Amino acid sequence: MADKPKVFVTRNLPDAGLKLIKEHCDAEIWPDPLPPPYEVLCEKVSDCAGLVSLLTDRVDEALMQRSPKLKVISNFAVGFNNIDIAAATRLGIAVGNTPGVLTDATADMAFCLLIAAARRLVEGHAYTLAGKWKTWEPLGHLGQDLVGRTVGVIGMGRIGYAFAKRCHAGWDMKVLYYDLHKNEKAEQDLGARQVDLDTLLRESDFVSLHTDLNEQTRGMIGAAEFKKMKNTAVLINSARGPLVKQKDLYEALKNGDIFAAGLDVTDPEPPEMDDPLLTLPNVIIAPHIASATVGTRNAMAEICAKNLIAGLKGEKLPAWVNPEVEANRRR
Ligand code: GLV
Repeated sequence: MADKPKVFVTRNLPDAGLKLIKEHCDAEIWPDPLPPPYEVLCEKVSDCAGLVSLLTDRVDEALMQRSPKLKVISNFAVGFNNIDIAAATRLGIAVGNTPGVLTDATADMAFCLLIAAARRLVEGHAYTLAGKWKTWEPLGHLGQDLVGRTVGVIGMGRIGYAFAKRCHAGWDMKVLYYDLHKNEKAEQDLGARQVDLDTLLRESDFVSLHTDLNEQTRGMIGAAEFKKMKNTAVLINSARGPLVKQKDLYEALKNGDIFAAGLDVTDPEPPEMDDPLLTLPNVIIAPHIASATVGTRNAMAEICAKNLIAGLKGEKLPAWVNPEVEANRRR
C-alpha cells in the first residue's frame, strides 16, 4: 500500500473529522490548546502535503514557499483571512473552508448578542452577583425594544440572511442591507431593502456585521460611522474584529454615541486585558464562539477533512475557496 500523505493539523479537532484524517493521512496533530508559534508551524508544514489550519494560524506566502510539497490547505473556518489566498493560487495550492454548516449557529449567536446587549443582560447579571439588587426598579435597567424596529445587515450573504430572517420572521423587524451584490432572496422573503452604508447607519436601530475581512472592509466602522448611528443603536459584530476600529468603538460607547455593542470577535483576539473597552458596562464580549455548538463543530470537522483528502488526491474540493487554482495545481 502506498504511503499515506503527510499532513499537519494545528489543533485537536472533533472526532467526526479527525477520524477521517487519520484514516487517509499520516497526520501530526498539534496537541496544545494554544496555536503553534509561526516558526514552529512553518517547520512542521515544510515537508507536508496537507495542512489543516485554524483562523488563528497565519498561513502566508513565506510558509507556502518553504513547503514545496504542500498541495492543500484546509481551513477549519468559513473565514479565510488568515490565509494568503492569492499566494496559494499562484503557487498551485488548493484552499478549502467550511461554509454553510455554521450559518445557523453564527446567526443564533449574533441574535443572542443583539438581545443580550439591547436588554443589558450581562450588566444585570453582574448587578445581581454584586448584591446591588435591592428592589424592582421602575426606572432601572432600561433597554431597547426589539419588535418592529429596523435592523441593518452589513454583508447579506448566507449568515447575514439567516440573521435577518430571525429578526424579520420572529421580531417583525424591517430589514436594510448594505452589500456590493443584490440579494434577491432577502428582498423577496424578508422585504429587505438594499441601501448605501450611510442610510443603513442612520436608519437602523441595530447594525450587524456579516461581511468578510479584506482590505476594503478593514476598519469600515469607525468614529465617523458611529456619529451617523442613532444614540439608541446597538452594534453587533460576529464576523471579524478588525472590521471595527476598536478604540473608536470604545469612545462611541463611552460617549453615548451608540447604546451598546455585542461582540463575538475583537481586535486583537483575545483583547488586551488593559483595553478600556473591557471596563464598559454596555459592551458584551464573547470569546469568538459563534460556531461553537456540538453539531456545528462536528459538521465543520467533516467538511474540513473532506477538503483535505480531496486536495491530497488532486480532486475537486467540496468547499473550494480558490477553484481557479485548478489550471496550475501542484500534483
Ligand atoms: C469563524 O469565525 C469562522 O470563520 O468560521
